[in-house]
Amino acid sequence: MSSLDRFAQSKLDDLASRNQYRRVIETRREDGIWVERDGRRLLSFSCNDYLNLTQHPAIKQAAIAATERYGAGSGASRLVTGSHPLYAELETRLAEIKQTEAAVVFGSGYLANSGIIPVLIGRDGLLLIDELAHACIFAGAHLSRGTVLTFRHNDVDHARELLCSHRGAHDRALIVTDGVFSMDGDLAPLDALLATADAYDAWLMTDDAHGLGVIGGGRGSSFAGNGHVPVPLQMGTLSKAIGAYGGYLCASAAVVDLVRNRARTLVYSTGLPPATVAAAIAALDLIAREPDYAALPVRNARAFTAAAGLPEAQSPIVPVIVGAEEAALAASAMLAREGFLAAAIRPPTVAPGTARLRLTFTAQHPADQIARLAGLVRHQIMAR
Ligand SMILES: Cc1ncc(COP(=O)(O)O)c(C=O)c1O
Repeated sequence: MSSLDRFAQSKLDDLASRNQYRRVIETRREDGIWVERDGRRLLSFSCNDYLNLTQHPAIKQAAIAATERYGAGSGASRLVTGSHPLYAELETRLAEIKQTEAAVVFGSGYLANSGIIPVLIGRDGLLLIDELAHACIFAGAHLSRGTVLTFRHNDVDHARELLCSHRGAHDRALIVTDGVFSMDGDLAPLDALLATADAYDAWLMTDDAHGLGVIGGGRGSSFAGNGHVPVPLQMGTLSKAIGAYGGYLCASAAVVDLVRNRARTLVYSTGLPPATVAAAIAALDLIAREPDYAALPVRNARAFTAAAGLPEAQSPIVPVIVGAEEAALAASAMLAREGFLAAAIRPPTVAPGTARLRLTFTAQHPADQIARLAGLVRHQIMAR
């Protein structure tokens, strides 16, 4: 065995010994909620396709029409020739929905965070990040080479203390948080974070990957409460409720222009395929037309938490925390035997000792199946 393979095998053995080895399992998605996996048909409570738009006939048709008109791929970086005409339409729609001056679309959410943050913060800058924020925020933060500090989850006082102690030593400061936390489903206290940021001349950026389309009438987490919180940097992805692919930043015209010029993951990466951009436009149109439909995933999540005896869901994401990796795998296997796909989420995606089922609810989950899942979670998982 070569030293390279020996290295890979020893790493794999180590992961397996900690129950952290992951197998990529082929999964055929039949429609918005049913999947076929290992020869079995399962009702999925693990997709981020909250509005089931990946399978929506009009959206698929928009993607097909865009392929026919503009081709299968974009052919180059957006700054060369890859910015096909659909991009401008999508960016206008995103800025409208988020009520910002402008928007810019990236190849994915991961690419967006990896590209935006280093444009805003350099070696002399300060980054304050919620400890449970998504991995790609940390990736972007480390690429910036600034000082990265984490604050306790949703603890605005802790963020303020850190700013008070460290802000003076840095030229610029950025607070970054998920708007809806991807593994816990709770919302960030955006109004308090924005006030804190403003008090210390820091900038606030939200990652609204799991908010767009399902929270705040579909506009996202900064529209969740009674008033709109004017977060100056609203990043997100088109791969969850929007049902397509791609990332975005909604911000002022100047910031968007700067990001377009300087974000390396935009400048040096090929534009999205026309089909993907067309699907996202069609999805945003549908959400704008049907805000009641956008409310269904959270309503279904709340029906589940009420029946399962869990704290009320704030978003379509409901964690069922069981602790140990083996317990999460066993719970997932039990639910699979009952016909449900409920993925076990283990460290390092979540903190050690907090392995869980991460359940996601969509607009089209039938009420009787939600009730059956709740019964199993309540009596067979939480009661242990
Ligand atoms: C909070 C959050 N941010 C960013 C991403 C990355 O987005 P994408 O899948 O478009 O790369 C994800 C999804 O994986 C996410 O959950």
